[in-house]
This record gives sequence, structure tokens and C-alpha cells, in this order.
Amino acid sequence: MTRMKVAKTLKEGQIGQEVEVRGWVRTRRDSKKDFSFVELNDGSCLANLQVVIDAAVPDFERTIQDVTTGASVAIMGVLRESPGKGQRIELQATSLKVLGTADPQSYPLQKKRHSFEFLREIAHLRPRTNTFGAIARVRNALAVSIHRFFQSRGFVYIQTPVITTSDCEGAGEMFQVTTLDLTRLAQLQTEVDFTQDFFGKKASLTVSGQLEAEIFATSLGDCYTFSPTFRAENSNTARHLSEFWMVEPEMPFYDLDDNMQLAEEFIRSIIRDVLKNCAEDMDFFNLRIDNTVLETLHNITENDFIRLSYTEAIEILSGCGQKFEYPIEWGRDLQSEHERYLTETHFQKPVILYHYPQTIKPFYMRSNDDGKTVRAMDVLVPRVGEIIGGSQREERLDVLVERMRECNLDPDVYWWYVDLRRYGTVPHSGFGLGLERVLQLITGMANIRDCIPFPRTPKSAEF
Ligand code: 4AD
Ligand code: MG
Repeated sequence: MTRMKVAKTLKEGQIGQEVEVRGWVRTRRDSKKDFSFVELNDGSCLANLQVVIDAAVPDFERTIQDVTTGASVAIMGVLRESPGKGQRIELQATSLKVLGTADPQSYPLQKKRHSFEFLREIAHLRPRTNTFGAIARVRNALAVSIHRFFQSRGFVYIQTPVITTSDCEGAGEMFQVTTLDLTRLAQLQTEVDFTQDFFGKKASLTVSGQLEAEIFATSLGDCYTFSPTFRAENSNTARHLSEFWMVEPEMPFYDLDDNMQLAEEFIRSIIRDVLKNCAEDMDFFNLRIDNTVLETLHNITENDFIRLSYTEAIEILSGCGQKFEYPIEWGRDLQSEHERYLTETHFQKPVILYHYPQTIKPFYMRSNDDGKTVRAMDVLVPRVGEIIGGSQREERLDVLVERMRECNLDPDVYWWYVDLRRYGTVPHSGFGLGLERVLQLITGMANIRDCIPFPRTPKSAEF
């Protein structure tokens, strides 16, 4: 008999069919009449398979004692119609083997509800809960859907480096990569000589694969990266991770409008896919995590996004009568509270803000003729705020070099990036979507740390 996964058993199993299932015990209930109900989960879907185990199973009395929450088991049996509500079939066991016991005294996951804070401390066991199992499956479906979206449009998947010697966002929020002996250097108290370091110069973990993606966009055409990115900003918020995954498409011959159009179609498409392919998990999020989640997502898939310039957004925010913690003033970056006011309260739809002040955006964004704004765009969604940041890129050699100098970046260090403007330069655009932020939007989870299997945040990298 070959093992059948629980998802398949529940979906396709026939009454009378003999199957073997394997997984972890969620609960065991003993009836007075000499049999037990076991809820078995193997991660293949949210639902458990109900198994009835009675004296027909060899050595029942002794073996059943080890069938406790968290134990792993292999069960053979026959499928039969379930008299219980909410399930079509159940398994009547004919044999039972405990593969690994779980001491009920010490196993941390008990039947009661645990807080997400507590579950973060046991990240090695939290995928065994309904919530984290569902998040993992949705995250998987999302990754597949992201590839499908770009592949179906002929984009080429490019793997950009994790170790880099340039700071794409120019924000200085990079984790240094070094093999220098820091203890010895501290004792010597001299200036560090990076030519002695592993790469012969100062190296870091990347904050974005964009600069390298631009190389391939201006040779292979439409392309995208999908990789981990790292930011050493010391912000302990529910929307920031030190390590997160970013999807970055980069397209030659796209202007800012084309870029916004693609971003909008992209978000709609991946949400539609998840709603379709993860219906059971999505119903769970709507029921248990946030009962506005499905409504919000349908609202996104069915309506056009609002497009609004930064300047218009400032006008709305300063005239709306709402009290904000941070001041509203043209030239200042928008805070999460402002972004959320626009998308949640004012428009109640996703909003794409564009043409931001040059002073608050990175060097590579294309300058507008007004001399004050750049062709940037941020996509804002309810509850999360910014999920996409992107722009049309500065393709004019002289303007780019001047902007780099203004930003205190040495064009010689970025010589290869500058070269792209020297040889066959073209207008081009791209954006970055934070995978965990979309997962927050889709699942309704309040904290981004619960949207990645092993979150890295300041002072936290246990697992
Ligand atoms: O707006 P950002 O910084 O844009 C870039 O990095 C560009 N190079 C992208 C591009 O044009 N190719 O980041 C893009 C997105 C944000 O909108 C957000 O969703 C996510 O990445 N993000 C984070 N997610 C989690 N934790 C953090 N600390 C994040 N910082 C950015
Ligand atoms: Mg941004």
C-alpha cells in the first residue's frame, strides 16, 4: 500500500478504499466505548483527517498511549463515510505505528491557542499550527504565481548576487561582509585597509538586485529577479524585516505609466491566483485572522487602482482634518500613517503615488523637467501601506552622473552602471515588490515577522 497525503485522501478518497496515511497527531479524544478519535495532519492541507482507532488495531491498548499531540504516526485503514459533521470521510484504522513520540509534559504546542509572540519563540514547531501551515502554503502558491505571471509574459528570470560592493538604495543600510579579524583590528586601532579584505574592497549583503537587473534588461529585455535582500535599518516595526524577499522586474522601453500598469496587473494577477488555488487556507484567514481579508482582496482584483501624484496626496492629507503624528509638508517622506489614510480611509482602494520629490528618493530615478520631482511610484494598499516601490530610471548619462555627485556617490565606483548609459542607453523602468508585505496583505497577519519562515530582525536570528 502506498502512502496517500491527507489533502488527496480528503479530496479523492473513495469509501471502502484502503489507504496508508502518515503525519502528526493534532489531537486524540478517547471514547468510553473503547475507541479513540485521532485528528491527523501532514501539512498537505489545512484540514485534518479524522481517524477512528479501536481494538481491531493490534496491540491497541498499549500503542494508543503514545498517540499524543505532536507524535508522528503511520496508519493503515479503510475509508468510510463519516457520521460527523464537516467531513465527508474518515479512516477506520486497521494498523497503527507510532514513528516518534512527543512527551505531552514538554511538547510546547497544546490544544489551546498560542499567541503569535510565543510561537515566534518556537519557530521550529510553529509550522505545525493551522495558521503557520496556511501561511507557508500561501507563500508557496504566491511564489509560483509570481513566476507564472512573468514567465507567461516572456520575462527572463535572472539571479542577481547576494554579495555586492554597491549600495543600490544609497541609504547606507547595509550588512557588511568581511573575513577581516575584527577583534585584532579593534586592538590595533588603525584605519581598516579593505584591500586586505576577502574581496579586496568593502563588501555587503545586497539591499536590491535592481542595478544588476538593469544590465540584463538592457540586453535580454524584460527580466526579473526574485531573491533575498537585506537591510540593516534598526526599525522594530510590524512591516520591516532585516532579511526579506523581493521580486524586481526591469523592463526596457517602459516609461512610468507602463511601469504602473504592469505593477497593477501583477498584483491583481497574483491575488487572483492565490484566491483560486488556496481557497481553504484563505477561508481560514478570513474566519480566524481578519474577517475583512477576502473583501479587501476582491476589492483589489475588481477595481482599478487610484493614481495620484505625490503633490496631490500632500494636498489631500493637509486638508483632510485628520490628526497625524508626523507633519505633512511637501518634500517630506510619507509615513505609514499617511499612506494608510490615503488607501484605507480616503480612497478605500490601492493607490499608486507617483512623482515624488527628488530629495527623498534614490539617485537612479529619472528626473522630471520641473527640477524638483522624479518619476518614482509607490503602490499603497490597505492595512500594509507600501508594498511596491519603483521608478523610471535615469537613462541620460550627464544627468545620472550629476545626480550621483549630488548624492555623494562616486560615478567611478558605479562605472559599469554608468556604462549602460554610455552604450545604447534606452528609457527603462522597474519596481520591487516585498514578498512578505504582500503576504501580510493576503493573509491579514498583523506582523510581518509571521509572514516569513524564519524572521531576522534587530537582535533576533535564532533559527
Ligand atoms: O522601495 P524599495 O526600497 O525599492 C527598491 O529597493 C528598489 N530597488 C526596487 C526596484 O525598483 N527594483 O523596496 C521595494 C519593496 C517595498 O515596497 C517593500 O514592499 C519591500 O520592498 N521592503 C521591505 N519589506 C520588508 N522589510 C523591509 N525592511 C523592507 N524594505 C522594503
Ligand atoms: Mg520604498
